[in-house]
Amino acid sequence: MTFDIIRTETRDGVGVVYFNRPKALNALNGPLMVEMVRALEAFDKDSGVGAAVLTGDERAFAAGADIKEMAESSALEMLQADRIGQWDRLRKIAIPIVAAVSGWCLGGGNELAMACDMIVASENARFGQPEINLGVIPGAGGTQRLTRAVGKAVAMEMILNDRVLTAEEAHRWGLVNRVVPVERCLEEAIALAAEIAARAPTAVRLGKEMVNHAYESLLADGLADERRSFYFLFSTEDQKEGMQAFIEKRPPEWKGK
Ligand code: CAA
Repeated sequence: MTFDIIRTETRDGVGVVYFNRPKALNALNGPLMVEMVRALEAFDKDSGVGAAVLTGDERAFAAGADIKEMAESSALEMLQADRIGQWDRLRKIAIPIVAAVSGWCLGGGNELAMACDMIVASENARFGQPEINLGVIPGAGGTQRLTRAVGKAVAMEMILNDRVLTAEEAHRWGLVNRVVPVERCLEEAIALAAEIAARAPTAVRLGKEMVNHAYESLLADGLADERRSFYFLFSTEDQKEGMQAFIEKRPPEWKGK
């Protein structure tokens, strides 16, 4: 398989994808995304490959979706081209994917790192969702995955006010697995991926699928369940007792009924 914008290699049962647009800080244009997904799908089908690593260079993992490519697009063109549709194929990759992140990891770059299963970050990595500066919001999962990863308070600052996280902050808030010196980043990511690739393949694939299931289950489902439970409790005697006790300014007597 030959590629123009990425480079690939296989090491220790790990398929490695290198982004190769250094002059554009590895901005994720359409052709790069198409090649990356094709490479990952090929690794996924290869029985000699048990995990993958995505990486950029020391200056940037990826500085976002390619702004020059989309700047003049209308809403209709964005909808028809559906570039983010490529990302649905990424979600179907069964082998674990580790992002090795150095330098800028912004916008779509951060969304891509978060769409991977683990992140090994260099000390110089910087994570952000600066779309607000462009008059838009993240469009490839940033509002959803970032909130789940770092919590509402930090996600709000990042998405509404371009708060950029250092690697240490990203580690403290659970966005990345570990922080290592820049020169060790790729090797650490490949070593982690190789350890996983050596494990029981079906269990690894199902483990990944199940963690993602927990991670991606809809908040709306949780809210609906919560609301049903709340309403259900109004069928209990304890609810009547608890609320009546409050009104009568006395401690409640629970019956468990
Ligand atoms: N798209 C297209 N080109 C980009 C780019 C991007 N996201 N990020 C950087 N580049 C280009 C620059 O235009 C520049 O090209 P030229 O040399 O031809 O002018 C080159 O890469 C180097 O960039 P800078 O000169 O700006 O480098 P710097 O070190 O001064 O700044 C930076 C680095 C802070 C990362 C800055 O480049 C920057 O702010 N980039 C944009 C980040 C951004 O807004 N990302 C979000 C994109 S939208 C998105 O991702 C939507 C989504 O959710 C899917």
